[in-house]
Amino acid sequence: MRPTAPPVIPALRPSEYTSALIQVLRAEAARVRGVHVLEIGCGSGVVLAALGAMGAASLCGIDIEPDAIAASRRLLGDLGHNAIAELHQGDMWRPVAGRRFDLIVANLPHFPMEPDEFAGRLPSWSAGGADGRSLLDPFLMGLAGHLTAGGRAVITHNAFDDLPRSRELGAQNGLSIKVALTTLVYISPEKLARMTADVLRIESGHTLYRHGPYTFGEMHILEIAAAGTAI
Ligand SMILES: C[S@@+](CC[C@H](N)C(=O)[O-])C[C@H]1O[C@@H](n2cnc3c(N)ncnc32)[C@H](O)[C@@H]1O
Repeated sequence: MRPTAPPVIPALRPSEYTSALIQVLRAEAARVRGVHVLEIGCGSGVVLAALGAMGAASLCGIDIEPDAIAASRRLLGDLGHNAIAELHQGDMWRPVAGRRFDLIVANLPHFPMEPDEFAGRLPSWSAGGADGRSLLDPFLMGLAGHLTAGGRAVITHNAFDDLPRSRELGAQNGLSIKVALTTLVYISPEKLARMTADVLRIESGHTLYRHGPYTFGEMHILEIAAAGTAI
């Protein structure tokens, strides 16, 4: 009999953002072997699972939602990563105060919209507040204090979330930022309808492309490290 695969939980199904994040991590899988990893907003746990498969030494996941922690725990357990996994329900950096990691990954909620439940997702899944930065900013401000010397972060970043602002915040915190990949993600009509009107107006034709009823947005995968560290 075939072993039964763990079920996909609809609210936690991975998105194209997660796919692109995993793509960039896989492109340099050798850099993952033996490193201590932290993911903020681990959701389904699939990014940690992918990093475990690439040979990470330890996997620490944080999520604000208890269901996400339960799902991550189950997935990592089912895939044999229990012994190296550590999961915490909590807010952003709080559960790992004072600790440092070699690789920090995040696909934070950062769509410019107020919290709302739609498409079967919890309000905490995508919403990044009016400018999309309500979690990006505290992430960037806390990052340097959680990276080991020579450590790096790899994160998703909508192009319509003010990349220059992220570079500025990074610089203020001694970090440099490189765009590792830019890809287009489909934005469903229901998501677009919730997008902050000013962002939609300013970014249309620049980072948002509309073809009749279909809209795509540019999304970057950023690699971030202490200024002067090669990334
Ligand atoms: C876009 S999802 C990413 C999920 C994950 N990468 C995956 O593919 O399953 C964002 C995740 O961040 C979590 N989150 C939202 N606010 C958070 C916070 N303040 N601290 C930690 N996690 C948070 C959400 O619960 C959600 O699981």
